[in-house]
Amino acid sequence: MRHDHGQPEVRVLAGAAAATDVLLGELRGALASGGRPLVSFATGNTFTAWFARLAAEFASGRLSPHDFVGTHLDEYLGHAPTQRGGMVHELTERCAGFGAMLARGTFLPVPGDGAAMSLAAHEARLSRAGGVQLQFLGIGRNGHLAFNEPGTPFEIGFHVTELAATTREDARARFAPDEPPTHAVTAGLASILAARRVVLCAFGAGKAAAVRAMLQGPVDPSCPASVLRRHDNVLVLLDAAAAAGVGDQHLAGGG
Ligand code: GLP
Repeated sequence: MRHDHGQPEVRVLAGAAAATDVLLGELRGALASGGRPLVSFATGNTFTAWFARLAAEFASGRLSPHDFVGTHLDEYLGHAPTQRGGMVHELTERCAGFGAMLARGTFLPVPGDGAAMSLAAHEARLSRAGGVQLQFLGIGRNGHLAFNEPGTPFEIGFHVTELAATTREDARARFAPDEPPTHAVTAGLASILAARRVVLCAFGAGKAAAVRAMLQGPVDPSCPASVLRRHDNVLVLLDAAAAAGVGDQHLAGGG
């Protein structure tokens, strides 16, 4: 379904578990469109229930590592795919199917070395895989998408970035007792906008201000997620707490 005038479709659901039905429907829809679509995943606690659901789909054989090509948004700088705390490590721990895809070469990891040549090669691989057909997204409490922190220009692709203080705090637990990283490699906002379909999830009161800024604030790098209002095929899934600051005119109702 396409939405004109840059307004994402917004649905308020019971919570993260209820959202997995919608997310699975989105994935099935991408698979039904033929070929082997490139599907890009986001990490984070937002997707805990989704990764459990995906893992169960793989385990039961309802989903196979041959069905699609997978990728993801970002990696901590200097992190190898197997390194604890890293994004690929998170994905493969949470969903064994991603590990199987990585071993077969059908999961395209973001190069943690951040070198310009590696990033160009990664972008070329995504492009050879047909470009991202379906992009799952979370949102940072400061309005970031992937690791595009406030102030990041809308126009850039994969790049190395310095993490905001709140982002480092949010990552502290996963690296304890070590310090969280200071830098990451991330898909740019231009990379995210290039996806054919975007599905963003946000749950809990901690995301309410960022969600409100994304949907109702200025379309401006001060809220990186506001760039999604320049895309005409975006679905936003919220729970009531994350939707608390959003005006009724933006909401499509329950599901
Ligand atoms: C991280 C990731 C984002 C993610 C966000 C929210 O920093 N780079 O892609 O959407 O934080 O994480 P969580 O779902 O844990 O709130």
